[in-house]
Amino acid sequence: MLQILVVDDDEQMQFFLREALLRQGYGVTVCSTAEDALGSLCRGRFDLVLLDARLPAMSGLVAVESILKTDPHMPIIVITAHGSRDGAIEAIRRGAYDYFTKPFRLEEMEIVIRRALEKRRLIEEIDRLRTDLAATPRGRMIGKSPAMGEVFHLIERAAPTDATVLVLGESGTGKELVAEAVHQRSPRRDRPFIKLNCAAIPEALLESELFGHEKGAFTGALMRKTGKFELADGGTLLLDEIGDMSPTTQAKILRVLQEREFERVGGTVTVRVDVRIIASTNKDLGRAVADGRFRDDLYFRLNVVTIDVPPLRDRREEVPDFVQHFLAEANARLGRAVTRVSPDAMAALVEYDWPGNVRELRNAIERAVVVCDADVATLASLPPVLQAGVAGRPGLDAVPLGTLSTASLDDRMAQLERAFVMDALTRAGGVQAGAARLLGVTERSVWHLVKKHKIEVERIKERAVLSGA
Ligand SMILES: Nc1ncnc2c1ncn2[C@@H]1O[C@H](COP(=O)(O)OP(=O)(O)OP(=O)(O)O)[C@@H](O)[C@H]1O
Ligand SMILES: [Mg+2]
Repeated sequence: MLQILVVDDDEQMQFFLREALLRQGYGVTVCSTAEDALGSLCRGRFDLVLLDARLPAMSGLVAVESILKTDPHMPIIVITAHGSRDGAIEAIRRGAYDYFTKPFRLEEMEIVIRRALEKRRLIEEIDRLRTDLAATPRGRMIGKSPAMGEVFHLIERAAPTDATVLVLGESGTGKELVAEAVHQRSPRRDRPFIKLNCAAIPEALLESELFGHEKGAFTGALMRKTGKFELADGGTLLLDEIGDMSPTTQAKILRVLQEREFERVGGTVTVRVDVRIIASTNKDLGRAVADGRFRDDLYFRLNVVTIDVPPLRDRREEVPDFVQHFLAEANARLGRAVTRVSPDAMAALVEYDWPGNVRELRNAIERAVVVCDADVATLASLPPVLQAGVAGRPGLDAVPLGTLSTASLDDRMAQLERAFVMDALTRAGGVQAGAARLLGVTERSVWHLVKKHKIEVERIKERAVLSGA
């Protein structure tokens, strides 16, 4: 039961408030003085304080501050006499949540109390989520593959230090989430996490973006502006897309990284900052250095700890988890209730090459949730590229060309082999004998292939059961 502490020296008012609040289902404790109220707050747990602004001895206004010292999130609602609006406003200034002037209507009080309690609940929830987030190494990230295990391991190792981290990986692999996880796990977690897209800053605004400017520094500088480096002071600065940084930007950034200080544009004071740097790019930085497009001195400074986020096609075993995760997310966002994807749709999702990685998968699932009109997303609801991949199976023509573009021949063969075995197993509901028949090989061969490709047959079975196949 939610507990309300009423602080009022007027006996009639005490009685009236106690009765009204009890009727509304709250627990009520009544005190006559602010001193008693502070004592009660120390002894018991309360969710809200209703406080008369004109109490004997310690005034209600001072009491507001004392209460907030014991619990900074305690919602305090102040009751003031008719005509003392100034006192009420002063109470709010000192941190009270809201006020009434006497006489007030009961419904009015009921609404304000409910809103105040709701706000407190939200604050507590945010606190809890934040703690959870910091406590799990993976933060908001999912991924059970060995390759991602290595990523999480590096996040844990790098987070407590101030080392510069370079996050590499194809577009959409989750580099930004990795950077965020490093910050969240670091001692800087309560300080800002600031992002700067290095590719997107126009040259003319560069210095002002990075270092800020003083009022009147140039035409149009009407107000003082704080730059990203200063905003991130005490926290972490993510330099995103560094592979696309212009030579001028590279030189400017190198200077701050070396000296950890700068001047605001149009200013004379030197600003010192304490910022942890994380850089990320989907470009091949080593090659950019070799080609002279990226400064080697900057490269060495950024490349202290490197975290390589693997492309999704190298961790296909995570696709089903991602599908469930993004289904839930899309349902919540779009107010739908698509609970799963059909087995053939899942097979297509697992086999597809995902050049746009996790982001592309997320978009595909969102699209499926929008277009499908039942609680199961079918193959037909997936983007056409995915459907094309399945159409001619199990012929080689059906394999998306992307699969064949990058890896070595052995890798490509292995990928194909794995895709065929996965497909057969999925269609056979996870039964290896069934898959063997579909593939035209012995059961023993299927057993070997499952081991070789680390296919989780149990999961395929679970999915088959879940999807009623
Ligand atoms: N492991 C993961 N768990 C949950 N969501 C993920 C994961 N990895 C990526 N995502 C989601 O995929 C999308 C792309 O991630 P993110 O923006 O971090 O990628 P990126 O590598 O920074 O891409 P780009 O190179 O295009 O900037 C986001 O919506 C993100 O939430
Ligand atoms: Mg990014």
